[in-house]
Amino acid sequence: MAVEVAIDVELLKSEIKKTYASVSEQPQTEFIFPTGRAWAEDLDYPRELDNVPEAAVESFAGVANPWTMGRLAEGERVLDLGSGAGTDSLIAAQMVGPTGSVIGIDMTPAMLSKARGAAAETGVSNVEFVESEAEHLPFPDGSFDVVISNGVIDLIPDKDAVFAELYRVLTPGGRIQIADVTIQNPVSAEGRRNIDLWTG
Ligand SMILES: C[S@@+](CC[C@H](N)C(=O)[O-])C[C@H]1O[C@@H](n2cnc3c(N)ncnc32)[C@H](O)[C@@H]1O
Repeated sequence: MAVEVAIDVELLKSEIKKTYASVSEQPQTEFIFPTGRAWAEDLDYPRELDNVPEAAVESFAGVANPWTMGRLAEGERVLDLGSGAGTDSLIAAQMVGPTGSVIGIDMTPAMLSKARGAAAETGVSNVEFVESEAEHLPFPDGSFDVVISNGVIDLIPDKDAVFAELYRVLTPGGRIQIADVTIQNPVSAEGRRNIDLWTG
């Protein structure tokens, strides 16, 4: 059942962009959520983390470890939804190898430029980063074998739109590996309108 959220979605998006531009540009800041390499190591990230440049990992802002659901196979086509500074995309690029491909999408330009810089630093040619909103993906139906995502869908009020897009761009039989925040109890209307609770 869809939940009605009386919130100014454009204002929310602009606040989210501000928050994650800071995570990108001032990674040493103490945020109210954990970030960086120590956090990824605490989450027991896979060995491929060692080859991800500091430029990406210092702005890692995932909420858990989507790789506990399994590794990727060589040659797979992967979408990283809300790729941030690119840590998961650059791990995925190593797993799928040169016959596979990874596209990270994000709506925050500062995050995209950090991810592109980190990809250039590694020299990989099977990963690209595209500016897009998760609710309107610029890809044809059935474009991907796997969708990965970490800490993104909890930030988006219209979850039905996101999942409709994920199912559309996945090939039949494709997989979804998502780490995200869920809640067990209903949130009051006042709570749902509080932009600080969404962005944090
Ligand atoms: C918590 S960060 C996680 C980034 C990355 N997945 C990681 O693990 O480091 C959330 C990211 O989602 C992006 N984001 C939030 N809402 C989005 C939307 N509607 N469409 C695309 N990206 C979005 C933000 O710009 C931010 O980079």
